[in-house]
Amino acid sequence: MRSQRSASPSGASSRAVNVADLRRLAQRRLPRVVFDYIDGGAGAETTLRENSLAFERVRFRPRNAVANAPCSLRTTVLGTPVELPFLLAPVGSSRLFYPRGECVAAAQAGEAGTAYVLSTLSGCSLEDVAAAASGPLWYQLYLIGGREVAASAIRRARAAGYSVLVVTIDTAVAGARERDLRNGAKDLCSGNLLRMLPYCPQLLSHPGWLMDFLRDGGLMRFPNVVLPASGPMSFEDATAALEQSTVSWNDFGWIRNLWDGPILVKGVLTAEDARKAVEAGADGVSVSNHGGRQLDEVAPALDALSEVVEAVGERAEVLLDGGVRRGSDVVKALCLGARAVMVGRAYAYGLGAAGGPGVAKAIEILRNDVVRTLRLLGCHDAGALDRSYVYVRTGAI
Ligand code: FNR
Repeated sequence: MRSQRSASPSGASSRAVNVADLRRLAQRRLPRVVFDYIDGGAGAETTLRENSLAFERVRFRPRNAVANAPCSLRTTVLGTPVELPFLLAPVGSSRLFYPRGECVAAAQAGEAGTAYVLSTLSGCSLEDVAAAASGPLWYQLYLIGGREVAASAIRRARAAGYSVLVVTIDTAVAGARERDLRNGAKDLCSGNLLRMLPYCPQLLSHPGWLMDFLRDGGLMRFPNVVLPASGPMSFEDATAALEQSTVSWNDFGWIRNLWDGPILVKGVLTAEDARKAVEAGADGVSVSNHGGRQLDEVAPALDALSEVVEAVGERAEVLLDGGVRRGSDVVKALCLGARAVMVGRAYAYGLGAAGGPGVAKAIEILRNDVVRTLRLLGCHDAGALDRSYVYVRTGAI
């Protein structure tokens, strides 16, 4: 039974039929600079588009005339029991999409029985998110601010009950997100009125969002990146600071010493990196290109999945994220060897569209679609899916 904290979908988001509907509602509620921050990708957005298109190259092979039975979606991912084979991926700055956005999303993940992965670059503190959530929490690590700052966040995450550390390895520099440049994202975060002025009309034309944003305290800082001299890192400083403190394989011995729980390396696209991750002490890897937001024209995540499963599938759990918009996408990834998937934009659109009810709706849409797909496939246990349930139409996957 759902608790008091559960957000039942209401208003326009309750009528959303698929994730594309939530995307349209988010586009309506959010200023362009915020919507494009969620929706956009790097460069020509080739990888962003192909992440989703790759799922269309996989077709199902159903077993029909199978007697109906209750469907089991339950699984365990890196020691975390979850009711759904999809988790909510780390999405930085979610507080810009909706007041206390990370707390709101984490609460909905818990209500649905799945895990929420909190980004280092969160607008809510990891302790506040833990207080708001009822379900499992994982912490995503950037070394932004340097090792001491990261060590303090790792200790705080452990103390607050986060159970898995997710180390993202694909952000040597920020991807060239052209929509952000065009919308003046950097200038709008500068706090300098002269620089902000040309871009302000897009905020003023969304008074509902603007009131929410101001009531929530205006432009947030990053309370999980606490600098010894100046406190929580400012929004404007984050991009440059991230580039100065990229994680490398040499950092993993140090990270392993600080964190005795499971580690997931996120951002693996090759067998080579998958093996390095496992040798560096990872318990799992996420096949991911950061949702097409980093190096454009890398392979779609789904195309890289089989290579990684073959390389390390016996020694580590393999997850996938990138391009998942339907429950059938979740099922296809499981068929091709993923233990579970992480979804980013699918729930971020819901959060931007309607806060908690929007996230709940996104999860409900995906869950219902996974169940329907399993039933139509004649397989009632997500854990029993394998390659025999799909045809793959390119050599790449
Ligand atoms: C992200 N992603 C991300 N990943 C990460 O490790 N740390 C982060 O702070 C962020 N921030 C972030 C912000 C936004 C707006 C988006 C859309 C994504 C990447 C995310 O975890 C995941 O890899 C992708 O979102 C997966 O692709 P889909 O599901 O969005 O297609």
